[in-house]
Formats: sequence, C-alpha cells, structure tokens
Amino acid sequence: MIITTDEQLDRLKAIGRICAQTREAMAAAMRPGMTTRELDEIGAKLLAGHGALSAPMVTYDFPGATCISVNEEIAHGIPGDRVLQEGDLVNIDVSAEKDGVFADCGASYVLGKGDRRLETLCRDGKKAMWAGINAVKAGAPLADIGDAIGKVAKKGGYTLIRNLASHGVGDSLHDEPGEIPTWPDKSERRRIGNGLVFTIEPFLSLGGKMADQKSADDEWTLVAEPLAPCVQYEHTVVATPRGAVVVTLAG
Ligand code: CO
Ligand code: CO
Repeated sequence: MIITTDEQLDRLKAIGRICAQTREAMAAAMRPGMTTRELDEIGAKLLAGHGALSAPMVTYDFPGATCISVNEEIAHGIPGDRVLQEGDLVNIDVSAEKDGVFADCGASYVLGKGDRRLETLCRDGKKAMWAGINAVKAGAPLADIGDAIGKVAKKGGYTLIRNLASHGVGDSLHDEPGEIPTWPDKSERRRIGNGLVFTIEPFLSLGGKMADQKSADDEWTLVAEPLAPCVQYEHTVVATPRGAVVVTLAG
C-alpha cells in the first residue's frame, strides 16, 4: 500500500492500534499453566470486539486468530494444547484487517522469571528492530534497513534469520513490494517509495540462520536452523521524507 491521503493513513493507524493493543493485552494476560489456545482466544475476542478480522485466518486459513510461537518455535506457531511454562520465550504476532486495511506487529517475551541470556536477546532484538526503523526514509536505499540491523547483530555477536523477510502490508497482509531483507543484502537495489507501508521485523538469534518447517505434519510452524533461541519484534511503518511513521502503537 502507498499512502496518498490522510483518510488512508487514519484507517491504517486505526488497525495498527488495534493490533498493538491486542498483542499487549495478550502479553499482559500470559500466565504459566495457560495453553496457547487460551491465550489466542483472548486475542480473538479483542479483535472481534474492535470489528477487526484476523489477517492470517482470512488470508491463509491459518488455524488461529494470532500466531503464538514458543521456545524452539520462531514464527507462525499454531495456538493449541501447548501449556506455557515459567521462563518460556513466547512470540506473539498479531495481524488484522479493518475497513479494507491490514496491519501487522509482533513481539517476543520471556514469561515470568527467565534465563538472563534470553532477557538480553529480547533487549537487543528490540534494538535491532529500531535500528531498522530509524534507517527508513522515503527515497533512501531499501538495503539501508538490513545494513542497520546487521550492524546491531554483528556488534552483539548475534545471527539473523535470513529467509524470513519483512514485507509490504496495507491492501493485503503480504503486499507490494514483496519481501524486504532485514539482513545485509548486496543484491537489494530498490529504493523506499514515499508513502510505502511495510513491516520491519528482524529475527535476531543466538545462532539460528534459517527458518525451517518444524515437522512434516505441521506446514505452519517454523523453527531455527540450527536450533537456537530467536526473537522477533515487528512494527508496521509508513515511509516519509522525514523518516518512518510507526502505526502499530498501542497508546
Ligand atoms: Co507479523
Ligand atoms: Co509480518
């Protein structure tokens, strides 16, 4: 989606706020002993209450309102019978549509008291996302985003998952201009269009390099290859000549 009118931007901000508020409410409600299905039901109710539709459900027939990925799972985890435990690394990704506009956001959390290494990974995962967001400027090379994220990863001794890209969003969940690398990519030659709506969602890991299907009978859930803890932080942004406008804010 390319934003050309204030009315479009208002609709994008409205669904962005709904996605962010839903994700934050789910994170606040997480408790050890709860199943990921129960957590998803909280999200489903909130989306419905706002008159929003789950984007993965309407777009891909995903078997859940939100994606909830735990520990070894890094993305597209299916809500189900898995019971959350103290110290789990949980990623909640909420994308939804309202009034014809889609937004997408995600975040990783350590449930309760967890491993210090995971807390630090979360802190630096956020840093990586903000480095990417701060590199956004209409007219600038799209590769600036992956370069900025790559610097944060390198400084901390982290790896980045290199086959899970950011993407255009707005008119659909996965919109033009297709995949946007969140890692240094010399073959990326495009420039950031003015008003372009897209996500920034690096996957920062303690060793993972690629995302792989979890098992033969689950075509959704992705795990890191090699297996390692991984976090994702995601905002939907609009590119302007003055920088990024972040639309997936809860406040
Ligand atoms: Co997402
Ligand atoms: Co996304």
